[in-house]
Amino acid sequence: MNAGTTVIAGCNGQLGRALRARYPGAVAVDLGELDIADAGAVEAFDWAGVRLVLNAAGYTNVNGAETAAGREIAWKVNALAVANLARVALARDITLVHVSTDYVFDGTRAPYAEDAGFSPLSVYGASKAAGDVAAGLVPRHYVLRTSWVIGDGKNFVRTMLDLARRGVNPAVVSDQVGRPTFTAELARAIDHLLDTRAAYGTYNVSNGGPPVSWADFAREIYRRAGLPNTVADVTTAAYNAGASGVAPRPLGSTLRLEKLEATGFAPADWRQALGDYLSRDPGPR
Ligand SMILES: NC(=O)c1ccc[n+]([C@@H]2O[C@H](COP(=O)([O-])OP(=O)(O)OC[C@H]3O[C@@H](n4cnc5c(N)ncnc54)[C@H](OP(=O)(O)O)[C@@H]3O)[C@@H](O)[C@H]2O)c1
Repeated sequence: MNAGTTVIAGCNGQLGRALRARYPGAVAVDLGELDIADAGAVEAFDWAGVRLVLNAAGYTNVNGAETAAGREIAWKVNALAVANLARVALARDITLVHVSTDYVFDGTRAPYAEDAGFSPLSVYGASKAAGDVAAGLVPRHYVLRTSWVIGDGKNFVRTMLDLARRGVNPAVVSDQVGRPTFTAELARAIDHLLDTRAAYGTYNVSNGGPPVSWADFAREIYRRAGLPNTVADVTTAAYNAGASGVAPRPLGSTLRLEKLEATGFAPADWRQALGDYLSRDPGPR
């Protein structure tokens, strides 16, 4: 589709791995090859012939971002680094694809449309919102706002399966509601927007199907995996009682998908995507 070189930044993360599979001819770099938070390194990178940058890099440790050290890294990777990429994209007329999160919202007004005002609760959410602003300055930009990402890496599905293998019947929060996003679906949506030359801007992307609580999502994981484990409902407040350093999270994470659907993309139901994932995923390594 796109003539010219495609660069994937953060290629070893969950989304980065899915993008590598989707764009095998891309130049794939992670922290070791290109630290996008380092303005000098971004400037010095060989951008000749590059037409498209897919930014899958991020500091995704939501609780870690509440610590003194983590706060600084979150702002570097999620905000300043996006500005570094935006500067290059602006100067060289490159298309920038960037990925954002439902955590830019406080969760009280879900389901969220793309133009809802920022209201982040956490350092992670605030740093990501700043990244959205930077990416939005690039004339040719797609910001994909997504939720509950599940791919090849540390994620909720693997954590639930790991607990089951250890014989644990977990208590899982039942008052945070949203929709999972499997990375293959996110990569498919990115490819669709590029391929159809959809209008530049921000698009919500998650799997389709009914919004679900984390607790019911866990039950569906065990049901589809054929595991006998049970899940107890717990409120976020009870789950975090007595714990320190836990970032506040939005209770309502559901993203409206009409804008994406209007481009001709039909998001796959998350239950179907979970079945596909369970049949393919090699699990924790
Ligand atoms: N995970 C979720 O539930 C979720 C939900 C909503 C939105 N998102 C967003 O979706 C995107 C992808 O998330 P993900 O789950 O795939 O993330 P991930 O698995 O944590 O991967 C992020 C990747 O970025 C790399 N990275 C970190 N700092 C970097 C830097 N300065 N320069 C270059 N690469 C750097 C990481 O390398 P190291 O591992 O070596 O640090 C890692 O390979 C992110 O923008 C995230 O904010 C995620």
